Amino acid sequence: MKALILAGGKGTRLRPITYSLAKQLVPVANKPVIEYGIDAIVAAGITDIGIIVIEPNSPIEESCGDGSRWGARFTYIVQPDPLGLAHAVMTARPFLGDDDFIMYLGDNLIKSSLRDLVDEFEENRPAATVLLTPVDNPSQFGVAEMENDKVVRLEEKPKEPRSNLALVGVYLFDRVIHDVIDQLKPSRRGEYEITEAIQGLIDRQMTVRSHIVTGWWKDTGTVEAMLEANRLILEDVVTAQNGTVTDSQVDGRVSIGKGAVIQNSTVRGPAIIGDGCTIVNSYVGPFSAIDKNTKISDSELEHCIVLQDCEISGVARLDGCLIGRGAKVKRVQQKPATMRLVLGDSSEVTLP
Ligand code: G1P
Repeated sequence: MKALILAGGKGTRLRPITYSLAKQLVPVANKPVIEYGIDAIVAAGITDIGIIVIEPNSPIEESCGDGSRWGARFTYIVQPDPLGLAHAVMTARPFLGDDDFIMYLGDNLIKSSLRDLVDEFEENRPAATVLLTPVDNPSQFGVAEMENDKVVRLEEKPKEPRSNLALVGVYLFDRVIHDVIDQLKPSRRGEYEITEAIQGLIDRQMTVRSHIVTGWWKDTGTVEAMLEANRLILEDVVTAQNGTVTDSQVDGRVSIGKGAVIQNSTVRGPAIIGDGCTIVNSYVGPFSAIDKNTKISDSELEHCIVLQDCEISGVARLDGCLIGRGAKVKRVQQKPATMRLVLGDSSEVTLP
């Protein structure tokens, strides 16, 4: 079996972060989202992995490399126009050939292992297996209608959903999906929808199995979802101490990276402090992920994702923030005491 990871998409709901960073590379607990998917695929024994990107030499390729870091082989496939998930499969056809494949949306995070799914697929040989999970807002997803454990209908982002079971962004297919995709017409939103292709399998009386995701699942498309994913991953963070801690209190599970310095501060886990960070006279609270070489002084924050090379100084208290690479948030003693903001397009500042 091969794998196809979709790492296109513009990530408009994560702007301004995604103006300069692909959404699949935004870190959750200091690790790019896409790497969780790669880990899960490799753990399921799949090492021949195609990655759909929007341009040649993409930042995704630069970040993930040729796959040798995972003992896998990555093939980058360029899909210049975002014409939908089924179009991505069409574009990847030369790579996929006639092999079975698992398709994984690169901004999805699931906790359950993929190994059992792959084994079950190979044993039962359905035309497709879809993963489903109950959600509160089904009209924002592909939605499955079931009759006694059987998927009878799938609809993409229905206005009036027939169930609360959303399609999770992980699918398993055998080669027959290509025949359906070849006959697909663009949807109302002008995309070739994988949801419609799977419906095409059902219409042709082929077997589509479903599997309800029991662990958590996140589509990390929004800031709130990103923070929630960060919280869920940090629930399992493993304590590590590779830095220097002086006159400080470190409570609970905290992973402290190489060369990090924590001085006269309180860090309360679960949290992760990246390599080379400096935390001085500060409080870093639960569910915070501070990426490498960030400096925090005289500040308090919790439940935040702070990317690398940031400077936060004299600020209390930050909560639920997503702060992009190299950003500076500083309080200065000056009169008049005004605010000076230099914000990128689509930035968001919430003041008390
Ligand atoms: C895509 C699929 C949708 C699925 C979702 C899961 O939507 O089209 O069926 O439920 O991924 O993340 P998109 O995120 O591209 O809007």
